[in-house]
Amino acid sequence: MGGSNAIATGLSALVDILRREKRRGGDTIALSAESERLLQAMPGAFLKAAPKAGRRAESRPAGAPETASTGRGAKAAIPPTAARSVAPTSAAGQKFPIPAVPEEERDEAWARAQLNAIFKAVKHCPECRGLGSLFETVVFAAGNPQAEIVFVGEAPGREEEKARRPFVGPAGKKLDQVLKAMGLPREQVYITNVVKYRPKKGDGRFQGAGNRPPQQDEMAASLPYLRAEIEVVRPRVIVALGRTAAEGLLEKGGSLARFRNAEHEFEGIPVIVTYHPSYLLRQESEADPSAALHAKRLVWEDMLRVMDRVGLPVTAKQRAYFL
Ligand code: URA
Repeated sequence: MGGSNAIATGLSALVDILRREKRRGGDTIALSAESERLLQAMPGAFLKAAPKAGRRAESRPAGAPETASTGRGAKAAIPPTAARSVAPTSAAGQKFPIPAVPEEERDEAWARAQLNAIFKAVKHCPECRGLGSLFETVVFAAGNPQAEIVFVGEAPGREEEKARRPFVGPAGKKLDQVLKAMGLPREQVYITNVVKYRPKKGDGRFQGAGNRPPQQDEMAASLPYLRAEIEVVRPRVIVALGRTAAEGLLEKGGSLARFRNAEHEFEGIPVIVTYHPSYLLRQESEADPSAALHAKRLVWEDMLRVMDRVGLPVTAKQRAYFL
């Protein structure tokens, strides 16, 4: 293998390690003396491109509030003598490039300001408005701008449009119950939708309280805004609520069962797909109570995976729900 090939292979392995650590929420990686020696021995071209030592890795803003209940505060710090900090790879090119700022400046105020800018941009979204199939009112996100868990629904309904907040109607109440079972106040997570406007039925004139799921073109037009939100919030895990949200987020089709049983990522962040809260409500309204229990059990299995992902403590009682 030629020298440049060896460098490319080494670089790619390093990037893989950094990505994996980022997904796991690590702030630093430990370099053995041998790895450090090998990096030092790399030719000058590589060293020039290599990240500067001493900066924090990308996974979490240095000034972010530590919320013990999400497990963030419980992360074991790597002792400085055992680790070398490695800077992040840069953000993927996107429609709303998030300004590159030093990690320590990515605090809560910064995140709020960025989200506000995305909100303003979404109000004008020519691609969304140009479709003519969405109502005018923007329903943006709610919650913690530095949340470890982001919940993504499909699009606002009538209740959300009235309140201009996501998940405030019956599905939102169901989502609140799920969050409560996880021991999470709503303010601790970030809740958003793929599409930020309520979809129209026909021309919307006779729609009343009816809602419809967003279509593929509506989700495609909205995705850059969601991507920007995720880049700002940088959660450790994303939960896609329902098949439609999963299709919009992951840009591929599939059944809910297939989505649930596979591993997914969005911008390097793990995505767990689960049933939409409306599905739970529909199951509860059916005559057969065992179907509702079964649906709840599946959602709870998914939420346990989410909790494990972010290091949220799971009590024996929570582990045994629905058993
Ligand atoms: N369903 C969704 O997918 N999103 C909402 O905000 C409300 C209901």
